[in-house]
Amino acid sequence: MVDLRSDTLTQPTPGMRRAMAEAVVGDEQKREDPTVIELEERAAALLGQEEAVFVPTATMANQISLRVLSEPGHEVLAEADAHVFRYELGGPAVHSGLAMKAIHTDDGRFSPEDVRAAIVPQGDIHAAPTRVLCVENTHNGGGGRVWPLDRIREVVGVAREQGLRVHLDGARLMNAAVAASVSAAEYGREFDTVTLCLSKGLGCPLGALVAGSRDDMLKARRFKHLFGGAMRQAGIVAAAGLYALDHNVDRLAEDHANARRLGEGLVAAGLPVDPAQVESNFVLLDVGALGLGADDAVARLRSEGVLFSFAARKDVLRAVTHLDVTAGDIETALDAVPRALGALVGA
Ligand SMILES: Cc1ncc(COP(=O)(O)O)c(C=O)c1O
Repeated sequence: MVDLRSDTLTQPTPGMRRAMAEAVVGDEQKREDPTVIELEERAAALLGQEEAVFVPTATMANQISLRVLSEPGHEVLAEADAHVFRYELGGPAVHSGLAMKAIHTDDGRFSPEDVRAAIVPQGDIHAAPTRVLCVENTHNGGGGRVWPLDRIREVVGVAREQGLRVHLDGARLMNAAVAASVSAAEYGREFDTVTLCLSKGLGCPLGALVAGSRDDMLKARRFKHLFGGAMRQAGIVAAAGLYALDHNVDRLAEDHANARRLGEGLVAAGLPVDPAQVESNFVLLDVGALGLGADDAVARLRSEGVLFSFAARKDVLRAVTHLDVTAGDIETALDAVPRALGALVGA
């Protein structure tokens, strides 16, 4: 099987496992784990922020960020398919008492005008005041789309003009940084809080970071504990994070090249892929355009030995390249996918 369902599927490599086995650890809750502290310091610098807090998942990093940046009764803005809205079980409402307003886009990247139009003016006493804007980079639901730094500056500028605070769901920020040749710190420092996930393209078994100012991260540590995320000998996992930052960042360019090769190959086979969509490690395949439902298409692909997953949009499938997908796997997929679906082209 060539498994292209998600970059969360990576297995820790022997080198990463060795780093984990040899980690010096302590009680993380008491701030006595030197490996966690080292990872937090590295991550703060990497993300252009004063301090970072190690947490088990990117979902927790996002939810802690929203709790830090808002009070119950405020409103949060994000793109309609943003992870924080679509796949976190209504967390902003549950954990932070927030009203959630979606900005609809084609690819996950909204404009300064979209933000301006969505904000509830501070003086309106009948509506929940808009307090937080979330940006997701790369945007998973939009197909791994990469935000240009200028566009980020524009939307953040509008938000700040209106007194909002801003969060970056950078679960895949290193993919964005590598794809755009913009440093993670350049992206990160535009925001109040930043999430970075270690268990996607970076290849760790788990772990994420939330970064921000010292004051905000003091609050973040309290919410981490409140949400049940304060750990003990977590250095065993943080060691994987340090290893990933040393070994698995630059190589994301290979994942992007593999995704481009897959996208171009599928287009050459006449399959409905928009090559302009392939900006990082995601390829979207519009099986609806072939007259297929997503379930049917996934089953056909599986029977030819390739696993795709469902994308955010109806009857669109997603292939994701990662550490455990080789260039050879892509050629295998390019042989198998047209076999599974090719007869439908032009039918
Ligand atoms: C953009 C984005 N943010 C956050 C998350 C949440 O990550 P986790 O599963 O580690 O909580 C994901 C997971 O796919 C994601 O794609």
